[in-house]
Amino acid sequence: MTRFASSTRSVPTTSAVPRHVAIIMDGNGRWAKKRMLPRVAGHHRGVEAVRVTVRNCLERGVEYLTLFAFSSENWRRPNEEVSMLMQLFVRVLKEEVRKLDRNGVRLRVIGDLARFDPELQALIQASEQRTAANTRLILTIAANYGGRWDILQAVNRMLVSDPEKSGEWKECDLAPYLAMSYAPEPDLFIRTGGEQRISNFLLWQLAYSELYFTEVLWPEFDVIAFDAALLSYQQRERRFGRTSEQLPGASTVGAASTGLPIDA
Ligand code: IPE
Ligand code: IPE
Ligand code: MG
Repeated sequence: MTRFASSTRSVPTTSAVPRHVAIIMDGNGRWAKKRMLPRVAGHHRGVEAVRVTVRNCLERGVEYLTLFAFSSENWRRPNEEVSMLMQLFVRVLKEEVRKLDRNGVRLRVIGDLARFDPELQALIQASEQRTAANTRLILTIAANYGGRWDILQAVNRMLVSDPEKSGEWKECDLAPYLAMSYAPEPDLFIRTGGEQRISNFLLWQLAYSELYFTEVLWPEFDVIAFDAALLSYQQRERRFGRTSEQLPGASTVGAASTGLPIDA
């Protein structure tokens, strides 16, 4: 399986359509509140927005879609909401996997899954196995995920991999142990619902992602809202530390990048 460097030491290739889109799906509760509905109604509508977004990614040629479904901090919510979200997760997995499989979508779930009940863990595993051969779109659901948890679990596994080695670790040594080592880093990060924060999502992997925040609430994140994010992405200049003149296709003569990797 391809492993990506997940490192700031090399410059990734970029294209007009982001290869990897990572989304914090926020605003379900506020969507429901505006309609005098219980928060759970917002989460149900949120599932519909997930279907729409998967379809949009397939149509636009996005290769990796990563969705933040439940953070390691979301356990702090009222018990009923947490257990309702778990039930919804189980139901969606049961109902949607066949369709994902038919559409060539590979499902992966990242996060500290040990905290989930055994039925859900088994279902996650079965769903991942069923879709394991698919390559059209890699859909990653981050569940009980936290960016700090990810970095720490990776550091711990890296350190025991070679107990003799000390003090010489590099970025590229850590990368294979991160939860999403199978994916390139997100090109485009989207957060719906108006908040402008990362909320402990992919901390390591977002180092050079383009950030896009929208007021649109997650249940209303439709193809128009998705295309607006893609358009904004297309207007960004991704320099990765270089000057404009050094970018491929720049007309200025004599400003070419050395192309050398940066020393760690
Ligand atoms: C995001 O919507 C979904 C989850 C965190 C599971 P919220 O439930 O956070 O919605 P708001 O932020 O209260 O509107
Ligand atoms: C972030 O949303 C987590 C998910 C979307 C799953 P929250 O609504 O929980 O984020 P904060 O706590 O308001 O930052
Ligand atoms: Mg929220």
